[in-house]
Amino acid sequence: MAEVIIVRDAAAGGALVADHIAALVRRRPETVLGLATGSTPLPVYAALRTRLAGVDVSHVRAFALDEYVGLDPAHPESYARVIEREVVRPLGLDPARVRLPRGTLPGIEHAGEDYEHEIADAGGIDLQILGIGSDGHIGFNEPGSSFASRTRVKTLTRQTREDNARFFAGPDEVPRHCITQGLGTILDARHLVLLAFGEGKAAAVAGAVEGPLTASLPASAIQLHERVSVVVDEAAASTLGFADYYREAWAHKPAWQGL
Ligand code: PGA
Repeated sequence: MAEVIIVRDAAAGGALVADHIAALVRRRPETVLGLATGSTPLPVYAALRTRLAGVDVSHVRAFALDEYVGLDPAHPESYARVIEREVVRPLGLDPARVRLPRGTLPGIEHAGEDYEHEIADAGGIDLQILGIGSDGHIGFNEPGSSFASRTRVKTLTRQTREDNARFFAGPDEVPRHCITQGLGTILDARHLVLLAFGEGKAAAVAGAVEGPLTASLPASAIQLHERVSVVVDEAAASTLGFADYYREAWAHKPAWQGL
């Protein structure tokens, strides 16, 4: 089952995950990270700035979960730019070793397969950071996505476009299509770390962790993975049925097990 860790706030969650990632990179300089965009992982990236200062990150590789289709890669809200701004530059990663699925239109029909090959050639993803959409998506795998899906083009739901409208002039400016790692791709990562903060995520988190396995709530696919850490604040944890058990398990977790 997923390990659920209830933290005080987003900063505490970011610090916890960043500590773990920094230790991983020190131990294994060629670590392959899976990066998420959106607001949720920002405290992780912010905390990594200090934790990775002075650490050799020149061998780290990273793969983003998704990208908008048809958006100019130079657009400030393209995920290529977001990853460059929030992760690559502040952490000093080698831009050539940080990859995103290609969302540009010429050749889009091959972009998913190409990305799958790139991930495989890198030896797979060691640690995948995930946010969760209010509709239960991970990556941009919207409700109905197959648990076996691989990187491909998807149509964003109206709800996701409204959720992401804050980054654009309005919901209609949010691209209609995206290219995203599939649920099958995500499940191949060796460790999944899903973060969620705020009341708006509570229902999706409860469905993902404690609800039935269903493509209608794509994040429930994490229940199929043998190593998942779900890091949530009190608000996002507020509708979990076994919250007391998760708190007790975390408080008494043997130190040698780590995250
Ligand atoms: P958010 O998005 O982190 O901006 O809330 C999460 C997601 O859509 O996966």
